[in-house]
Amino acid sequence: MIPDRSSFPADFLFGAATSSYQIEGHAHGGAGRTHWDDFAATPGNVVNAEHGALACGHYHRWPQDLDLLAGANFDVYRFSCSWARVMPEGRGAVNGEGLDFYERLVDGMLERGLKPAATLYHWELPSPLADLGGWRNRDIANWFADYTEILMRRIGDRVWSAAPINEPWCVAWLSHFLGHHAPGLRDIRATARAMHHVGLAHGRSIQAMRGLGMKNLGAVCNFEYAQPADDSAEAAAAARLYDGYYNRWFLSAMFRKEYPADVLEGLGPHMPEGWQDDMDTIASPVDWAGLNYYTRKLIGPTGGAWPAHGEVTGPLPKTEMGWEIYPEGLAYFLRRTAQDYTGDLPLYVTENGMAAPDQIADGVVQDDDRIAFLARHLEAVQSVIAEGVPVKGYFTWSLLDNYEWALGYDKRFGLIHVDFESLQRTPKASYHALGRALAR
Ligand code: FCB
Repeated sequence: MIPDRSSFPADFLFGAATSSYQIEGHAHGGAGRTHWDDFAATPGNVVNAEHGALACGHYHRWPQDLDLLAGANFDVYRFSCSWARVMPEGRGAVNGEGLDFYERLVDGMLERGLKPAATLYHWELPSPLADLGGWRNRDIANWFADYTEILMRRIGDRVWSAAPINEPWCVAWLSHFLGHHAPGLRDIRATARAMHHVGLAHGRSIQAMRGLGMKNLGAVCNFEYAQPADDSAEAAAAARLYDGYYNRWFLSAMFRKEYPADVLEGLGPHMPEGWQDDMDTIASPVDWAGLNYYTRKLIGPTGGAWPAHGEVTGPLPKTEMGWEIYPEGLAYFLRRTAQDYTGDLPLYVTENGMAAPDQIADGVVQDDDRIAFLARHLEAVQSVIAEGVPVKGYFTWSLLDNYEWALGYDKRFGLIHVDFESLQRTPKASYHALGRALAR
């Protein structure tokens, strides 16, 4: 059973999350091309070469989607804005239609009593900026600050919160070292630069929003519990290093003005010159930290080039993504983030959820596994609140089935089923269960 609202502190907020490219339909409304369009058009990158041109058609169906959010008694909606929709070339000209769209969306939330929680970058970099080196180019910090200012001059007075960049690890490591996401690089020098510039861009964006007088600004990072694959000292060291570049790098920069020494052993030689001078900017004060959490990984040594480790399949029950279900990891990261980095700052679980092979039968999607998943993770949140960790809200990923990046439309994370032919929305059993738990 999903624990209900009354079993949480009175000011605890519940939300659902989405992102622009995954739901809007990028071909509509004058948006510019992005590196995800390019990545998807390259054979072998995305299942069925699927892309976000139509996605969930949210660009036109947003009123219905906001009604659905309000209908499940959510307090807050975590959405993202597309840089290329606001500035099709990434710099210079502004697409008025794009700004109008986000303004309507924010006003639509307010009309329905939903708090708008904005993210400025959830992965669709305008292609012309990718041509200039994208996250490898230090100038991206200033381009991003300019975009921040243009967007927030329009909606910054009405959003409840704002965070610059969703999941810096994915922007940098997953996309430049593992090559799984756009721009699909596998290059350590590009990675080191992206690992630094993404933090710098975060800091410059925070400063731009402070300059506009905005409040309630945060950072959203993702976390994976790194478990040694066996009892050996080598496996312990491998897991520790994985934890370093995945879970500690960005928090350490943003909240302690330093990078973890163990990770610098590998990345240090490839870092951009003078990176030490940027740490104050990266650590521009924020008002809260957001944690995205899905799973744990078992890590063991592999030999070969740094970081010389890899994943081993674990024994726990898995979601449709093949990800082990491990709610203890969520409790662990909430506790550790407060203890080691953020102290009394409010923490939010900004993403948590699961993909399941959901099917409609007689108009019903009976996603009991998702209900159990949400219940267990919400209980983990309650357990750390009881210890005094200042967790102030929980957002589930995702409101809608959507474009799951390199896995295309096949992986369904939504509380609401989307038929990608007709775009029809069908709330799943989890939507109804959450709606009942959140009734005021
Ligand atoms: C997160 C992303 C989100 C979605 C979920 C499943 O890493 O922020 O866009 O893909 O994973």
